[in-house]
Amino acid sequence: MLNGSLINSKLPQVGTTIFTIMSKLASEHNAINLSQGFPDYSCSQELVELIHKKMLAGNNQYAPMQGLLSLREAISKKMGLVYEKKYDAETEITITAGATQAIFTAISTIVSPGDEVIIFEPAYDCYAPAIELFGGKVVPVTLQFPNYTINWQEVASLINTKTRAIIINNPNNPSSSVFTKKDLLQLENIVRNTDIVIISDEVYEHLIFDGAEHQSIANFKGLAERSFVVFSFGKTYHATGWKIGYCIAPKELMNEFRKIHQFNVFCVNNPIQQALAEYVEKAEEYLSLPNFFQEKRDFFVDKLIGSRFTIYPSRGTYFQLLGYEKISNENDVVFAERLIKEFKIASIPLSVFYNKKEDNKVLRFCFAKKNETLLRAAEILKSI
Ligand SMILES: Cc1ncc(COP(=O)(O)O)c(C=O)c1O
Repeated sequence: MLNGSLINSKLPQVGTTIFTIMSKLASEHNAINLSQGFPDYSCSQELVELIHKKMLAGNNQYAPMQGLLSLREAISKKMGLVYEKKYDAETEITITAGATQAIFTAISTIVSPGDEVIIFEPAYDCYAPAIELFGGKVVPVTLQFPNYTINWQEVASLINTKTRAIIINNPNNPSSSVFTKKDLLQLENIVRNTDIVIISDEVYEHLIFDGAEHQSIANFKGLAERSFVVFSFGKTYHATGWKIGYCIAPKELMNEFRKIHQFNVFCVNNPIQQALAEYVEKAEEYLSLPNFFQEKRDFFVDKLIGSRFTIYPSRGTYFQLLGYEKISNENDVVFAERLIKEFKIASIPLSVFYNKKEDNKVLRFCFAKKNETLLRAAEILKSI
């Protein structure tokens, strides 16, 4: 007999993520799944074969705790090529089990009970629970609908002695907006002369469209010196199932990050790291991504012309937002569920990314799909 409950939940408000719920519902109803952010086409066969080769060559035991040095060196080189700051492979780069673990570990490294952390909503869903788990208080700032821009004056007004960190996500999931240079300069200005740490989620660094340039934290000295910057190989190489990414930060921050990293994962997949150490050198692979995804976005949007959905601009990521205010008054979760059950198409309702469940009648559709999938999806959406 137990003397009461074994569980005193640390996250009483948290249920199963919307991504799991919508993907499950999509599969139960045999619906086209544009909900979760992953491709339905295969990743590079050359990369798969390279990993296989590395496995056959016997690279099947633990990798070093910080990640393979050759991979960290390749990342350091890439950072110098693509951005203005080259990070030290030895002390400033750690390979992680996806961006999710990097973000969780960065939050755990800096957030203590009572600390406040500013996030921007709609927000990717892994930030708030991690902040709360370590006793922090989430301070949300709402991106201004419909362009999802930031009111930096509001951000400045929320800064106080308890503000420990600001989490940004650029290009932004789910809003598909991107930060301008002016945004980053405003942020740099706001945190100057404070001890605020930035966690910058840049998993969609290469998914940016219409000729815009990704404004990485790494390009802003006053931000880079206080930031954990997080990337995902899963997003860059169309292989979300591998769950491998990396975090970069100045030595002092990275040193503390690694103290926690070594006890929550120790190290990540060795043969994949071995293969990526070579594959990251192929700049054309990631430099071709803006065009590759812009073509998909344009294909999907073009096929939607004439539909009753409002098409919002998608400036980055592989998501397209569609408004259904001309079609229904229903709450967005109810409407998204109805789309799956009645029309066999799955999306993500945007209200789930807000603490207060703000409902602008907007759904998020992932266009990292084969053109035939996008065509079938667009035909369904046009019929609604
Ligand atoms: C904004 C954002 N951050 C982080 C992640 C997680 O990346 P990973 O799969 O590498 O953990 C995702 C995945 O969808 C994402 O959209």
